Amino acid sequence: MRALVTGGAGFIGSHLVDQLTHDGFNVVVLDDFSTGKLSNLAHSPKTRIIEGDVADFNAVANAMQGVDVVFHQAAVASVPKTIEDPLGSHQVNYVGTLNVLEAARRAGAQRVVAASTAAVYGDLPELPKREDMTLKPLSPYAVDKLASELACQMYFNLHGLHTVCLRYFNVFGPRQDPSSPYSGVISIFLSRLSQGAAPTIFGDGQQTRDFVFVKDVVRANIKAATTDGVGGQVFNIGTNKRTSLLDLYQILSHQLAVNLQPTLAAPRMGDIKDSVADASKAAKLLDWRAQVSFDDGVRQLVAEVVKR
Ligand code: NAD
Ligand code: UD1
Repeated sequence: MRALVTGGAGFIGSHLVDQLTHDGFNVVVLDDFSTGKLSNLAHSPKTRIIEGDVADFNAVANAMQGVDVVFHQAAVASVPKTIEDPLGSHQVNYVGTLNVLEAARRAGAQRVVAASTAAVYGDLPELPKREDMTLKPLSPYAVDKLASELACQMYFNLHGLHTVCLRYFNVFGPRQDPSSPYSGVISIFLSRLSQGAAPTIFGDGQQTRDFVFVKDVVRANIKAATTDGVGGQVFNIGTNKRTSLLDLYQILSHQLAVNLQPTLAAPRMGDIKDSVADASKAAKLLDWRAQVSFDDGVRQLVAEVVKR
């Protein structure tokens, strides 16, 4: 089986490449290296790497040759970046998905699993989030991800292409890049605290997130690609538990044995107050549940940071 991983040099994509390689897939990566790194693929040296843009149909069609299953991870994954550049990020986050679907259909690929996001739920108060709830995307990022979900369903309905969209909640783990101010909060806090620098908390720190470990997200992707009868479906991928930023801050400080006061700043534009998954649909139809607890995931991550 040949698998194409778009965004395979990124944080989640590279863990997926490692697992697929381990499982005996022949893996092709399409990545423009805008945030991804070649070093993330060091554990899977046999991977065929194509440098290209998912917004360029010809690049996607070229990477799609002979592919059986696609894991579409490439995106501008930062909400603030898409607010700054809604036109550019739309080319990647929506047109890129359409290119993947159309290239997959033309090449006769059987399945497409696409990375969606909990951001499609927006800030409506009802928790935990279920897939059948009203959606309220609040950023260009969330709107393009929702449009991508609809495009995936459309390709399933029109062409029978077996598409599955996974609404990841807040993914964390090794290789999440802390270097940009737009990186995931755990990687930023860890990097700053381990250097003895105070992180910034945007807002009052009472906002909550459902942090899911990257290895669990990889398992969800593989389940989505190998389970029959789930074409056209969307699934929440989260742990059903939420952690406030203040609690996260304390847990990380405790594990790193540092005592620094965080800097407080105004809330970010488009920021969501609370987010937590009801992941029972994935449990029922994909036989998937998060296996790594937040504490264990953080312990693994801190151990890696300390080792470096
Ligand atoms: P990441 O930035 O580490 O990975 C994205 C990858 O896509 C990078 O390797 C980047 O170079 C590549 N890429 C970006 N634009 C591209 C383009 N135009 N053409 C080809 N490649 C391109 O981010 P991540 O956290 O690994 O995110 C992976 C996917 O998961 C994204 O679709 C993101 O929206 C989604 N997601 C992530 C989270 C999270 O918490 N990290 C949560 C929900 C959804
Ligand atoms: C994240 C993902 C997004 C995904 C969404 C799904 C990243 C970069 N973004 O968005 O792709 O779709 O989850 O739920 O992984 N914060 C601070 N200080 C910081 C950084 C962040 O206080 O230095 C706060 C933010 O304001 C926010 C929270 O931490 O309230 C989480 O931020 P972030 O990790 O960027 O994730 P989301 O915005 O939830």
